[in-house]
Amino acid sequence: MDRKFFVGGNWKCTGTTEEVKKIVSTLNDAQVPSSDVVEVVVSPPYVFLPLVKSSLRPDFHVAAQNCWVKKGGAFTGEVSAEMLVNLGIPWVILGHSERRSLLNESNEFVGDKVAYALSQGLKVIACVGETLEQREAGSTMEVVAAQTKAIAARVSNWADVVLAYEPVWAIGTGKVASPAQAQEASPNFVHFELRKWLHSNTSPEVAATTRIIYGGSVNGANCKELAAKPDVDGFLVGGASLKPEFIDIIKSAE
Ligand code: G3P
Repeated sequence: MDRKFFVGGNWKCTGTTEEVKKIVSTLNDAQVPSSDVVEVVVSPPYVFLPLVKSSLRPDFHVAAQNCWVKKGGAFTGEVSAEMLVNLGIPWVILGHSERRSLLNESNEFVGDKVAYALSQGLKVIACVGETLEQREAGSTMEVVAAQTKAIAARVSNWADVVLAYEPVWAIGTGKVASPAQAQEASPNFVHFELRKWLHSNTSPEVAATTRIIYGGSVNGANCKELAAKPDVDGFLVGGASLKPEFIDIIKSAE
């Protein structure tokens, strides 16, 4: 089953107006495979969403890095799914490990966010991933399955969901779970197990069509090897998405 390669760029909490304009200009000038081959979605901080949305090339799309769990109202500081839809932002990242750890977002809270965002017409990059302690305790799949279960319990339309496996110990560390590592550590292994989980707990169709992308120290040097793995359907890139090498990562779709 063909799954269109997906490359997300998570800019996290970084940037100035000038820096954002420079990144968008680099992206707009890039020679990359067509949107039939690869789906590119960049995710600036909230404050730059209108600027990026209005200036980015039409074959690339924009995601917010989060949104509130229900309809807007007296929730100071939050940004609602409705506001993103009103801005014409089609995607949102939810459940990122930095929010799970720093803001104590529980599996259930993330699941509720995914459900509400989908109900408002947003497409969701839903993040799962274990910490180093959980991996060293041998509970990677137990943790990732529980995170995925809380999401799956609230999803009826998987066509608008991309699952991002981001081992926390690989985020921002330069350590990437290379395929050459022990079987358990390879992103392809977890992706394979995640797809098996979807097959058993949702449907064979969902398992075959849902993109499972990898995040955690992806860069221009390791992207080709990772992209070649059958169950790696793309990437969610942090640091490298702010650099010209992000174009190389997009090209790894070929
Ligand atoms: O959401 C992607 C991010 O967590 C990965 O970060 O810097 O390791 O590519 P980085």
